[in-house]
Amino acid sequence: MGLGYVGLTTAAAFAARGRTVVGYDSDPARRAVVRAGRAPVQEPGLSALLRRAVRAGRLAVADDPIDLARRSDLVFVCVPTPSRSDGSIDLSYVRAACRTVGGSLRKVRGWRAVVLKSTVVPGTTDGVAGPILARASRRTLGRTLGAASNPEFLAEGTAVRDALAPSRIVLGVSDARTEAALRAAYRGFRASTVVLSPTAAELVKYGSNAMLATRVSFANELAGLAERLRVDVYPVMRAIGLDPRIGPRFLDAGPGFGGSCFTKDLRALLAQASSLRVALPVSSGALSVNASQAIHVVDLAERAAGSLRGVKVALLGLSFKPGTGDVRESRAFPMLRELLRRGARVRLHDPEAGPSFVALLGPRPGGRVRLVPDLASAIRGADLALIQCDWDSYRRAPVSLWGRLARKLVVDARRTLDPAALARSGVRYVAVGR
Ligand code: UDX
Repeated sequence: MGLGYVGLTTAAAFAARGRTVVGYDSDPARRAVVRAGRAPVQEPGLSALLRRAVRAGRLAVADDPIDLARRSDLVFVCVPTPSRSDGSIDLSYVRAACRTVGGSLRKVRGWRAVVLKSTVVPGTTDGVAGPILARASRRTLGRTLGAASNPEFLAEGTAVRDALAPSRIVLGVSDARTEAALRAAYRGFRASTVVLSPTAAELVKYGSNAMLATRVSFANELAGLAERLRVDVYPVMRAIGLDPRIGPRFLDAGPGFGGSCFTKDLRALLAQASSLRVALPVSSGALSVNASQAIHVVDLAERAAGSLRGVKVALLGLSFKPGTGDVRESRAFPMLRELLRRGARVRLHDPEAGPSFVALLGPRPGGRVRLVPDLASAIRGADLALIQCDWDSYRRAPVSLWGRLARKLVVDARRTLDPAALARSGVRYVAVGR
């Protein structure tokens, strides 16, 4: 239920492992695209996997939710859970999907279980979805109806790999029949399976994202200290990560984390905790370090340039990480705002995300911002370059290109370029945590 990013990736992975999958989405255009074996969202490898699944007859699209309920034992709910303006989670799509699936289950016979894949705050399966499903289906939970949580841990760009070979399978279940059906669905996935209560499983999802976000913020915190101590935080973090209790990943200092999950999930977790009168100072610290990190990058640029008033800055890389055109929560937004506040003129460039970034900017901020189509024209006429996202095309650009910056200055928030090569071309290099 829900053929978006998560629904399609999950469907394609189950089909690839030999399950028969039926999908449904309330958008008829989307149903038609998927039925034709195409992916309506961009994700490496997803189209190929979907095409194969449809051709092999392992992935079909239902015409209506009753058809979906009739043809499946397990219904995975994969609908969006956006943020409300106070950061708390908006469960209206989850509620609506549960009402629809529940209503459809009235029309079909036999046991069924409904599984929440959407990211929902702990307690949603037991406190919200289960009761709605039971009421709408007129079934009894634990008898003819199961309700479960099965969070996903997909990262953009590697979602297909993450779905086919997950780091772990977390099943939040309340009854043996639902657990057995979920275990059968995941047969052949070769990942450790953890069986918990639905609420505990939901907490695993938020806890994972909070932990990863905290690691990034911790690296950024230490980066600020390293700058003052005049040491490079990168080899320091590498050495820290060699401790097997710590591990090497998610310790790269930079402009802070972006993307559709970390900020949204941290805010939802904090909002829930505060409604339960529980303080989460570490998670809340991870968010506030992240909010100041983008400003800190602009500070580095200002310090290196003397002042930013009237300075032409090429802001390079607008997506939240390389390999995607997704600009949600991209650190390029706060960086751009801060550059403009300090009087800079900004040329924006991104190999993919330019138009979607500009579309989200809203009313043009005073004509001091311009999107340019290629790296060379972003650099030509700029005083300095500020790299927000480490696209490979920036890394591969000839070193001489950076020498064309009027002030021969690069501020690299992501360790994209080789400082020694730049130095040989007479380009000054400033980086986060160095
Ligand atoms: C993340 C989680 O990884 C995934 O498990 C979850 O399901 C959804 O959220 P995603 O948002 O696609 O996935 O991006 P991810 O690769 O985790 O990066 C998030 C942000 O952190 C990016 O802006 C990235 O640049 C930044 N980051 C990551 C760092 O700044 N430093 C690091 O060391 C790692």
